[in-house]
Amino acid sequence: MSTNYRIVVLLSGSGTTLQSMIDTELPANICAVISNKPNAMGLARAEEASIPTHLLDHTLYSSREAFDFDLQGLIDQYQADLVVLAGFMRILSDGFVNHYSGRLINIHPSLLPNYKGMHTHQRVMDEGEPLHGSSVHFVNSELDGGPVVLQARLPVLPSDTVESLELRIKTKEHLIYPTAITWLAEGRIELKDNEVYMDGKKMTGPVVMDYM
Ligand code: GRF
Repeated sequence: MSTNYRIVVLLSGSGTTLQSMIDTELPANICAVISNKPNAMGLARAEEASIPTHLLDHTLYSSREAFDFDLQGLIDQYQADLVVLAGFMRILSDGFVNHYSGRLINIHPSLLPNYKGMHTHQRVMDEGEPLHGSSVHFVNSELDGGPVVLQARLPVLPSDTVESLELRIKTKEHLIYPTAITWLAEGRIELKDNEVYMDGKKMTGPVVMDYM
């Protein structure tokens, strides 16, 4: 579907998250997909869907700021309304994050603010948590710390392994991320003064979708 709302997707890996956006009738146009990794399968998925792709290899840059500066220049050529992180394995500099304030989102595989950072599935299992999930959030300069819009929540089953838990989480991510993007594209969700508004009302917490 092609509309005036323009999205640029950043990724580093397999791109199943991107695929869920391609497969959903988003009220938005995915204008470009950018990877920092040459072999990211997400690039092939984008090409298959006739979406322009770019490789920006971070190993060719001497500093994070220099890479982020070029990344910003590339994204801005597409006049993106929204920049979507979809498994983009880079810490972003403050200048970059501030430039896209309110129009930069990420999906993190935990029930934020719990389990920021890496290896969330393993850590959740090690702690014996009964619940786990994934969170769509605006990105600010604190790692995995921006205001959360939407969460998928599901039980950790006694039979779960890290792999089975990750797979079940991903299945739900592929529902909630396109949903959150749709809300943004429709203007239903907005970030003002670091607070999330939905349909003009300040949210007291994220929308939670339970998959029990
Ligand atoms: C997703 O599980 C997401 O939570 C995290 O990165 C993963 C990306 O997976 N931010 P894929 O490369 O889209 O398959």
